[in-house]
Amino acid sequence: MKICVLPGDGIGPEITAEAVRVLNALDLKFEMEEALLGGCAVDATGNPYPEATQKLAQAADAVLLGAVGGPKWDSYPREQRPERGLLGIRKQLGLFANLRPAILYPELANASTLKPEVVAGLDILIVRELTGDIYFGQPRGIEMRDVDGKHQRFGFNTMHYTESEIRRILRVAFDAAKKRNKRVCSVDKMNVLECTQLWRDVAIEVGAEYPDVELSHMLVDNAAMQLVKNPKQFDVMVTGNMFGDILSDEASMLTGSIGMLPSASLDENNKGLYEPSHGSAPDIAGKGVANPLATILSAAMMLRYTFNQEAVAQRIEGAVKKVLAQGFRTGDIYESGMKRVGTREMGDAVLAVL
Ligand code: IPM
Ligand code: MG
Repeated sequence: MKICVLPGDGIGPEITAEAVRVLNALDLKFEMEEALLGGCAVDATGNPYPEATQKLAQAADAVLLGAVGGPKWDSYPREQRPERGLLGIRKQLGLFANLRPAILYPELANASTLKPEVVAGLDILIVRELTGDIYFGQPRGIEMRDVDGKHQRFGFNTMHYTESEIRRILRVAFDAAKKRNKRVCSVDKMNVLECTQLWRDVAIEVGAEYPDVELSHMLVDNAAMQLVKNPKQFDVMVTGNMFGDILSDEASMLTGSIGMLPSASLDENNKGLYEPSHGSAPDIAGKGVANPLATILSAAMMLRYTFNQEAVAQRIEGAVKKVLAQGFRTGDIYESGMKRVGTREMGDAVLAVL
């Protein structure tokens, strides 16, 4: 079981350290090697996804990632932005299926900005296509063009999907729904975008292969509204790269803190990259206060999806529930009366339960 560990930037190193401690505490043998991705890689090599990292990531069975990016690199040319490293590794490893669960832990019901009755018991899985769409569209750029009688700057990106790209991500969503509440909501913008008309057509075709799963369709603007209005109507939501980026951030906040949410990005063979859904939080980096639970839960997803260790994955998830029940809280999920702890102490609490 070879794991490539990419701590990244900001709080990345602090939170991945806790997930690595958890992995090392299990009765399993992992081979772990660390490498650079993101801003730290740009600083060291000029490339956000350096060749040494590419080699390690390609040779590994799974990648554990902290987070990338920060204001320091905002002014860098686009090819040197930390985000390019993340997009590069997703594309190179063929990680087309991004699973982003949004689960509300009963202990954290007050952390949500929505009324408890709206979010109590929330358990949504967002399945986001991750290697296509406008994120990877060609052509793209900013150039001078003569438009509307004026020589002016013109910016363009293109949205596109092949039917096979749509079909394979829809299958991931339906397979997941089969093991859950058997409902898939496919999100598109078919009233405006032809590309997403194809998405809907293919969703209907794939849906016919899964008679035991109920398929519904929703336009993305309505989906954004419904997520806040009545999030519990959803079981599995499946959508393209761009809409999935936006809706998964929205869904994460239903649960109170993005600091709790893990994610998995899988290829055809369940090789995966596992990372918290949140970013590098440069404002609190290096202070030892970041919440490591999303990264620890990402390690649990790694055990489930790449290493087929469902029981061990559940042990970790159970340990996280237990530390919440014991009252341990990092700043992002703190309420008065609870035990406020830092990153390392939260890791310690999980290890103690394990
Ligand atoms: C995410 C992030 C990335 C994305 C950025 C950092 C490139 O927002 O993983 O959701 O847009 O996919
Ligand atoms: Mg995002």
